[in-house]
Amino acid sequence: MVEALPIVGARAEENENAGGEVRDAGRRIDREAQDLLDVITNILDASKLEAGKVELRLEDVALAPIVSRCMQRCQGLVGAKAVSLEVDVPSDLPRLRVDVVKMQQVFTNLLANAIKFTDQGYVRVRARGAGQQFIAIEIEDTGVGIRDESLDRVWKPFEQDIQRPSRRPTGTGLGLPIVRSIVELHGGSIAIKSKLGVGTCVTFTLPREPRAKGAGAAASEVVLG
Ligand SMILES: Nc1ncnc2c1ncn2[C@@H]1O[C@H](COP(=O)(O)OP(=O)(O)OP(=O)(O)O)[C@@H](O)[C@H]1O
Ligand SMILES: [Mg+2]
Repeated sequence: MVEALPIVGARAEENENAGGEVRDAGRRIDREAQDLLDVITNILDASKLEAGKVELRLEDVALAPIVSRCMQRCQGLVGAKAVSLEVDVPSDLPRLRVDVVKMQQVFTNLLANAIKFTDQGYVRVRARGAGQQFIAIEIEDTGVGIRDESLDRVWKPFEQDIQRPSRRPTGTGLGLPIVRSIVELHGGSIAIKSKLGVGTCVTFTLPREPRAKGAGAAASEVVLG
């Protein structure tokens, strides 16, 4: 949709071949261009989802490779923080019928949040069967957490850095609204639990088979044992 911005990443090789200050400036420009592209992509995605113009390309897939691909992509976001990325997705989990690209968007958004708001500890993805029809997935972190009375705000567009308002936010505040729309479009549901200073856990369900919109299990009631 936004291939019209070929400048992003195109100069990376030239940047790396240049020396000292030029290379650093080149890297900075490239990073900022990528951030800008992410903002534009988020705004377009949110508008399309809101307008009901997104069609899913459903495929029969295993969950584990999607999770590990997204974990690898997000590893760089950890930087120097003492945060380990952990996965607990059984290899014999039933296959899902999902749009793989959209699922990757869900996982990278949730992992990016968990990593962004965690200074130490872990970010863990777990998945289990939930009854005969659903898979429940949980992304848990040991980060800053969110106060109970502020939890509802996370689903509203453009709400950002709820627990750390003095920080200059990164991103657009559209990540969670987009994630929720995609999960619901698949027939699942999503919920968030959090404890200030302890961490946050986002749980969502996905049906094992394609189902009618609105037929999701209540993620708030799923407990991964
Ligand atoms: N794992 C988390 N721990 C603590 N707070 C969180 C977590 N996930 C989301 N939040 C809170 O919810 C807000 C909204 O999240 P959302 O993903 O929609 O936006 P964002 O991450 O700020 O920006 P974007 O996703 O567009 O890059 C966050 O800014 C943060 O205050
Ligand atoms: Mg986000």
